[in-house]
Amino acid sequence: GFSWKLKDHPKLPKGKTIAMVVLDGWGEAKPNQYNCIHVAETPTMDSLKNVISFYAPERWRLVKAHGTAVGLPTEDDMGNSEVGHNALGAGRIYAQGAKLVDLALESGKIYEGDGFKYIKESFETGTLHLIGLLSDGGVHSRLDQLQLLLKGVSERGAKRIRVHILTDGRDVLDGSSVGFTETLEKDLAELREKGVDAQIASGGGRMYVTMDRYENDWDVVKRGWDAQVLGEAPHKFKSAVEAVKKLREIPNTNDQYLPPFVIVDDSGKAVGPIVDGDAVVTFNFRADRVVMIAKALEYEDFDKFDRVRFPKIRYAGMLQYDGELKLPNRYLVSPPEIERTSGEYLVNNGIRTFACSETVKFGHVTFFWNGNRSGCFNPALEEYVEIPSDSGITFNVKPKMKALEIAEKARDAILSRKYDQVRVNLPNGDMVGHTGDIEATVVACKAADEAVKMILDAIEQVGGIYVVTADHGNAEDMVKRNKKGEPLLDKDGKIQILTSHTLEPVPIAIGGPGLAPGVRYRKDVPSGGLANVAATVMNLHGFEAPSDYETTLIEVLDN
Ligand code: 3PG
Ligand code: CO
Repeated sequence: GFSWKLKDHPKLPKGKTIAMVVLDGWGEAKPNQYNCIHVAETPTMDSLKNVISFYAPERWRLVKAHGTAVGLPTEDDMGNSEVGHNALGAGRIYAQGAKLVDLALESGKIYEGDGFKYIKESFETGTLHLIGLLSDGGVHSRLDQLQLLLKGVSERGAKRIRVHILTDGRDVLDGSSVGFTETLEKDLAELREKGVDAQIASGGGRMYVTMDRYENDWDVVKRGWDAQVLGEAPHKFKSAVEAVKKLREIPNTNDQYLPPFVIVDDSGKAVGPIVDGDAVVTFNFRADRVVMIAKALEYEDFDKFDRVRFPKIRYAGMLQYDGELKLPNRYLVSPPEIERTSGEYLVNNGIRTFACSETVKFGHVTFFWNGNRSGCFNPALEEYVEIPSDSGITFNVKPKMKALEIAEKARDAILSRKYDQVRVNLPNGDMVGHTGDIEATVVACKAADEAVKMILDAIEQVGGIYVVTADHGNAEDMVKRNKKGEPLLDKDGKIQILTSHTLEPVPIAIGGPGLAPGVRYRKDVPSGGLANVAATVMNLHGFEAPSDYETTLIEVLDN
C-alpha cells in the first residue's frame, strides 16, 4: 500500500538546515538597460552565479519556468506564480487551469458537468453574470475562453447575460484594455443580433476592483461588489469602451487601477446589478485573486464588508479555487488534482518547516506551494508566518517592500535551529516589476539581493544549505520587444514598458557549508524546469524523492 515514508538518500545526510529562497519575478536575460537585475547592485546573487572553486565547479544553473515545463498550454505562455510555485512544491508537472479550461471548452465537457447544470437552472428566469479579468494574458483568464463560454451558454439557453469586466495592463501591455473591451463589445453585439440580451454591466481595474488577494485589502473587493452586485459606482457610462477610454485619461490612472464604473441605460439605471434568481460565474481559472470575491458571493456568514444585499444566486467558479475550503462549492471545470506535494511528504518524514512572506505573496509559499491547499499539514511541525504588506499603495512607491523583515524572520528561524526547512518568497522583483517603473524595480532588485545575503549569512552560521531560485521572470526585462528582440516603440517614439512576466528561464543556486562536497548538477537534465526542484530539495534533506517525481537536478560524486 501507499506510504508517506521516503527512502533514505544513499549518500546525502539528514539534519542540515535548508533555506529555500524564491525570488519572485527574477529571470535570467541579456544584460542591458531594461534588465533591472543587471542594472541593480546585486552582489550576493552575482557571487552565487560566479562561484568557481575546485570542489564546487558549478553552483548555479538555469531552469525553465514557462510554457509546458510548468503545465501551461504552449511555449508562448509566460510563467506565473501559481504554476511556478505549484511546480516547485509538487515536483511534478500538472496540466494547469488554463489548459484544463481549454480542454473542457474544446470537448464541450464544460457543459456536461454539475457546475454548468446548476447555473443553467437560472437561465430561464434570471440573468447570467460573468465576472473576470478581460485580457489574453493567460495568467488568470483568457479572452478566447470567455468568447467560447459566451457562445456556449447562449446556445444552451442563456437569454440575458451581463459581463463585469476587470481591466488588466499587468499581464499584458497597459492600454490594451481598450482593444479587449472593443472586441468583447463586438461579440456581445453579435449575440444581441441573435436575440440574446447581452451587455457589459460594470468594470474596473484589476488592482483596484475585485482582484485583491490573500485578504490584503477588502476595500478592493467591496468596490467590485458595489458595482457588480449593487449596480453602484462613482462613474457611470452608457458604453464600456467609452468608460475605459475616459477613465484612462484621469492622471496616474492605468488599466490596472481604473476606478469602478457601471453601465447605465437611458434613464440612468444600472443595466446589470446581480439580483435574486441570477446565476454568476467568475471566469478566472487562477485562484488567488478570486478567492475573496468567491467568499463574498458564496458565504452566508460574512463580515469582511457590508454587502448591503446578499442576493440568492446560483454561483459557480470557472474552477474550484480552494480544495480545502471547497470554495466555491460549484465550478465548471475540475482543478488540477495536485496531491502528495513535497511539503506534505517532508512533514510526514519529520521535516520541520518554516514558511514566510509578506501578505501579497504569502499564499505563494504556502497555498500554491502545497498544491492550492490552505493551512499547514501538521501544525506541530510547521509554522507559517505572514508579514503584513503595505496596502493602498503601488509598490514602486516602496520598492523595498518587506524584504528585510522577511529576511529577518528567516534568519531568526534558521538561527533558532528549530526548523529543517526555512522557505521564503521575496516579492520585490515581481511586484515592483508589475508597476512598470524601471527605476523602482532596480531598487527592488537590490533589496531582494540584500535579503538573500542575510539569509545566506544565517545558513553559513548554522552550517546549512541554501537553495535560491525564482518562480518566473519579470524584472530582468522591462520592455516589450519585437521578434528580433529589439525594444518596441509606441507612436510617440517612447519604449513600450513591459509590466508582465516573461518567457525567460530562472536561476537556481545551491550551496552552503552543509552541502556535501561531491554534490553537483547532473549533466543529463539540460532542460530541467521548476518541477525538478522538489526532488532536489528532498535529496538535500537526505531523502530519495518518490519515483513519480520529476528527476533531481543533482548527483553526488564520490571524492
Ligand atoms: C498578479 O496576479 O499579480 C499577476 O497577474 C501575476 O503575478 P504573479 O503570478 O507573480 O502573482
Ligand atoms: Co507577477
